[in-house]
Amino acid sequence: MTTDYQDQRKWGLETRMVRGATERSQFDETNEAIFLSSGYVYKTAEEAEKSFKNEIERYVYSRFRNPTVSMFEKRLALIEGAEECRAMASGMAAVFAALACHLSAGQRLVASRALFGSCQYICAELLPRFGIKTDFVDGADLKQWQAALSKPADAVFLESPSNPGLEMIDVKAVCDLAHKAGALVVVDNVFATPILQKPFTFGADVVVYSATKHIDGQGRCLGGAVLASKQFITEKLTPFMRHTGPSLSPFNAWVLLKGLETLDLRVQRHCENALALARAMEKQEGITRLLYPWLESHPQHKLAKAQMTAGGSVIAFELAGGKAAAFSFLNKLKIVDISNNLGDAKSLACHPATTTHQRLSPEDRAHVGITDGFVRLSVGLENIGDLIADVTQALRD
Ligand SMILES: Cc1ncc(COP(=O)(O)O)c(C=O)c1O
Repeated sequence: MTTDYQDQRKWGLETRMVRGATERSQFDETNEAIFLSSGYVYKTAEEAEKSFKNEIERYVYSRFRNPTVSMFEKRLALIEGAEECRAMASGMAAVFAALACHLSAGQRLVASRALFGSCQYICAELLPRFGIKTDFVDGADLKQWQAALSKPADAVFLESPSNPGLEMIDVKAVCDLAHKAGALVVVDNVFATPILQKPFTFGADVVVYSATKHIDGQGRCLGGAVLASKQFITEKLTPFMRHTGPSLSPFNAWVLLKGLETLDLRVQRHCENALALARAMEKQEGITRLLYPWLESHPQHKLAKAQMTAGGSVIAFELAGGKAAAFSFLNKLKIVDISNNLGDAKSLACHPATTTHQRLSPEDRAHVGITDGFVRLSVGLENIGDLIADVTQALRD
């Protein structure tokens, strides 16, 4: 009945999503069990000693590993095509752990400027406090990457597409430059999801997710994940996790495991809805900039098509009337909710300048295109006719 975990790598994507890494208990349950246990017991003191010396492999404490969390990690690794995965309590815990477990004082990080606000905080403020120097580049400009990576670097961090401006970065070109400079490449693949873009195939070393977004995708829990080689996970991330404790709860891991079963179906529908809505918005007046990677008008449409298999769930746009117009649009929405989450079954819209990116200086916001009239719209799974009607009425004066 059971198939060896490594053999499951040969399964088609749908089978890996539904069945990958399932481990049944002695009760032979159909659905994966939630092991809500912080600790584990040993038959003898000798067994406990050997477990702590890593002489036998077993569960020791749920800050380190837990059976339900392991199922989630192993299934996501199968979907991503990664050797190993460690789940985290949130996407930010994953981003921080991936960078902090690798970098030391005196080392150098090169990051794209267009980042989610908290990622920007880690790179621009937190890591420099511990003696790590961060140099930012405009991610779409390969010449800036070339210049920054013409001297030695220890890590590169990027988001593609970026939050909220949907800037695309040529992941393969940046990986090639980074590796020549001696840097490890960490890609935040949240907007692309594990379904639409495979950073490892472009040379990335580490892929991070906020599982809160599409992987749960139903607004229930926070979670995150770091995927990388066995060596990186064993030597760098595992000791960091074990001793600093950003671990995912078994209950949240179970919710996310269930989310993985339908991830592909949901992401495909998100993309269909987002493209149809973006096309409908192209015809509307009062929009000075409309960004969606699958629209021919996106400045990096060709790169998007080369790197991704569909455009994702997020549309970003700028309204001519600035903050007043953006607020008026948000307040007129009847179906779409005002919320700063994304990748949810429910369509959600927000004003990044006053929410997710409010801590950036006005100059830094302007540099990445987050103007006062800029709105981010995460397109959900509702009926597309209803969504077009809602957005269209909210755009009207
Ligand atoms: C690109 C990106 N990375 C990381 C995160 C952080 O994820 P979490 O909210 O699960 O900590 C977010 C959240 O919005 C995000 O958009």
